[in-house]
Amino acid sequence: RIKKMPCDKTIDSSLCLLMEGYPFIQNRCRKYETDIFQTRLFCKKAICFTGEEAAKIFYNESLFKRKGAAPKRVQKTLFGQQGVQGLDGKMHQNRKQMFLSIMTPENLKTLIHYTRFQWEYNSIRWNNGNIVLFDEVQILLCQVACRWAGVPLEYYEIEQRAFDLGKMVDGFGAVGPRYWQGCSARKRSEKWISDIIIQIRTGKIKPKKNSAAYIIAWHRNQNSKLLNPQVAAVELLNIIRPIVAIATYITFGALAMLKHPECRKKLQLRNPDYNEMFVQEVRRLYPFTPFVGALVKKDFLWNEYLFQKGTLVLLDIYGMNHDSRIWLNPYEFNPERFSDWEDNPYLFMPQGGGNMEGHRCAGEMVTIEVMKASLDFIANHLSYKVPAQNLKYRLCRIPTLPKSRFIISHVKRKV
Ligand code: HEM
Repeated sequence: RIKKMPCDKTIDSSLCLLMEGYPFIQNRCRKYETDIFQTRLFCKKAICFTGEEAAKIFYNESLFKRKGAAPKRVQKTLFGQQGVQGLDGKMHQNRKQMFLSIMTPENLKTLIHYTRFQWEYNSIRWNNGNIVLFDEVQILLCQVACRWAGVPLEYYEIEQRAFDLGKMVDGFGAVGPRYWQGCSARKRSEKWISDIIIQIRTGKIKPKKNSAAYIIAWHRNQNSKLLNPQVAAVELLNIIRPIVAIATYITFGALAMLKHPECRKKLQLRNPDYNEMFVQEVRRLYPFTPFVGALVKKDFLWNEYLFQKGTLVLLDIYGMNHDSRIWLNPYEFNPERFSDWEDNPYLFMPQGGGNMEGHRCAGEMVTIEVMKASLDFIANHLSYKVPAQNLKYRLCRIPTLPKSRFIISHVKRKV
């Protein structure tokens, strides 16, 4: 028996997705009282679904593939071409292993150390003045990311590189100028990093053996071949770009401290468990990844619904983070909800779900650790005032951010 899937009535919903942004899938699930519906996106048939069972099937690699799933516009800005996100099977296994070999406990410790150092160092420069927190954190994290990854970064280029890395993320959900800026930022960044890959291979640059730059430059694929410099650049950018993107979560973390002074006070008690719960709640409540996508690999039935080969399927990340069946009062900021949270890789998945062998984010620990170190610094070592400004973030913008990007004044290192 095949059940008819609830169907979005418009000819193509791409415009609605663009106008509604994050709650696009959630809005339709509520309207049709369903966890699954069919629609058309980017001139193709698409299925959108939500919930734990949906996540479990979505991460089943015998039923879904990633090759060809990301639209061109996402490849031209966010992902790049021929990177790990679009690989399947043995090729994906080989490439994912490369990423995971960078994420050793020792390397993570070094990263935390570099993050703390950079906050100390850069906060001296802020010297009682005004800053736009998001912009400064992007710069700071670009310095951390390049140092950690073994990518040389000259003083004069820091800002341009940082903002390019930011624009690649900012551009993927847009049409028009924001998208074009994302494309040119990617072109410049790939040129920069592929030159570095070549210089590593010719011995002109000698990064540490356990650094991302070294590991990626010398990585051999399943046929024992080095990656071509363009692909190696895409992958090295898959390390430094998302580290800079953590600025989004840190800015939202600062916003959470402002809106919930009682939580800021608790951060000041410096209990590592609370710090982690705070970070998890920021990753849950504030929107970043809207959904993840894959293509149906072969026809199959799920809950009596037909999934046809080649159909685009989107799993709703934003909706799951705000589902009242999973979270009590989902729109409230409440770090304590994580005190008795049982880890479930198919329920709480702000950076993708399933296990690490699949497509789950390779940098989740990196994100959590950089956020912990940064939000601890902001809560405990930085004194600042928050002048009147527009801190609203719009859900129709993907990715979103407080409008003013969080201006703070009288910023100085606490003594
Ligand atoms: C994959 C989100 C930070 C490296 C992903 C995916 C999401 C995601 C949604 C796709 C999951 C899927 O397709 O099922 C985020 C967010 C971040 C972040 C919101 C916060 C800033 C990082 C960091 C790194 C990183 C810091 C590296 C240092 C990767 C890589 C993949 C990935 C390499 C591809 C994994 C694969 O396809 O196997 N991330 N990520 N991410 N992320 Fe992250």
